Amino acid sequence: MPDVVDIERLRAEFQAALAQASTDEAVRAVRDRFLGRKGGVVATLMKAVAGAAPADRPLLGRLANQLKIQIEAQLEEKRLAVEAGRPIAGAVDVTLPGRQAPLGRLHPLTAVRNQVEAVFSRMGFEILEGPEVEDDYHNFEALNMPPEHPARDMQDTLFLARPVPQRAAGATGTRPSTRPAPPERPATLLRTHTSAMQIRYMEAHEPPVRIVALGKVFRRDDLDLTHTPMFQQFEGLLVDEGVTMGDLKGTLTAFLREVFAPDTKVFFRPSFFPYTEPSAEVFIGCVFCEGSGCPVCKRTGWLEILGSGMVHPAVLEAVGYDSERYTGFAFGTGIERVAMLKYRVDDIRLFYENDLRFLEQFSF
Ligand code: DAH
Repeated sequence: MPDVVDIERLRAEFQAALAQASTDEAVRAVRDRFLGRKGGVVATLMKAVAGAAPADRPLLGRLANQLKIQIEAQLEEKRLAVEAGRPIAGAVDVTLPGRQAPLGRLHPLTAVRNQVEAVFSRMGFEILEGPEVEDDYHNFEALNMPPEHPARDMQDTLFLARPVPQRAAGATGTRPSTRPAPPERPATLLRTHTSAMQIRYMEAHEPPVRIVALGKVFRRDDLDLTHTPMFQQFEGLLVDEGVTMGDLKGTLTAFLREVFAPDTKVFFRPSFFPYTEPSAEVFIGCVFCEGSGCPVCKRTGWLEILGSGMVHPAVLEAVGYDSERYTGFAFGTGIERVAMLKYRVDDIRLFYENDLRFLEQFSF
C-alpha cells in the first residue's frame, strides 16, 4: 500500500524526469510515463490509494490528487517553454557575467579639435565653423591673392562647376553693413584653407575681433604619409587697436604649451604668406628626439606646427577696416598635423581608415 513517503518519491522522480526533457518528444514521453491511462505512474497510484485502508484514504487521496494536478501543470508549462524555444528554468547559469557593451571613445582628431576649442575659448576667442563651399573672393582674392598671384599655385584647388547662393554662412550675428558688397564671384570651389573665414567674419563684424574657425578643407593632393585630399584646419584671427607681434607670440606660445607640454620650446622664423606681413612659421622642439636631431625633424631639432603673421593691411582694407587704426594677427594649421605630433602618428591616413586596432590605442 502506498504511503506519504511513496508519493513524495514519485514527485521527486517526476521532477527529475522533467528536468531532463528538453525536446517535444522527451516531454511527451514523460507525460506518457506519468499520466498514461493504463500503467501510468499516476493511474497506478490512484488505484493503489483506492485499495488503501479507509482511515488513510482521505489523506492519501488528497496528496495523490495534488500530485496529479502539479504534474499536469508542470508538463504544460514545459511544453510551452520548449515550443517557444525559451531557455528552460534550471538550464540558465545565472552566475555567468553579463555581456558588456563595448565602450566608445573619441577619435584622436576630435580630441585635438576639442582641446583647440577649449584652450582658445578660455583665452576669449569665439569658436566658429563656416562654409566648406567657398568662392574665389573669400578663399583667395580678399586674402591679398589676386587672380594672377603666384601664391595661388601653392594650393591645388578643387573647383566646383555650379555656383552656390552667396550668403555669409557661419558668420554669427550678421548685421546689415554699410560697406560696398564684394565684387561678383564667378568661381565656386571647395575651400583650400579656413583662412577664408577671416574675411567672412570681418565682413559681418566691426573690431575687436577674436575668433577661431575650425573645419574641413580640401586640396588636390594625392594620398601619402602627410597628405589627404580632405583634412581639417583651425584658423585664428585677432584684430583690435594696438595689437602687436608680441601678442601673437604670447598667444601661440601659451596655446602650444597647453597642447604639448608646459616646457615646450617655441621658435618663430620669418616666412611668407600673402595675407600676413610680417609672417612667421612657428616651430616646437622636436617631440621625437627632444631637440637632439632625428629623421622626423630632419636633424634640425624643430618641427613646424603653425603658420602665422600680422594681418596684411590689404586684407583689413578689403573688409573695410581702417588699417591705420587697427592691427591684428592670424594663424592657422592642420588639426591632423597637431594630432600627428601630439600622439606621434607617422601616417596621416591612419586617421581616416577607421581601423579599430589603431583607434583603440587612444583612450580619451
Ligand atoms: N592658410 C595657411 C595654410 O593653409 C595657414 C596660415 C598661415 C593661416 C598663416 C594664417 C596665417 O592665418 O597667418 O597652410
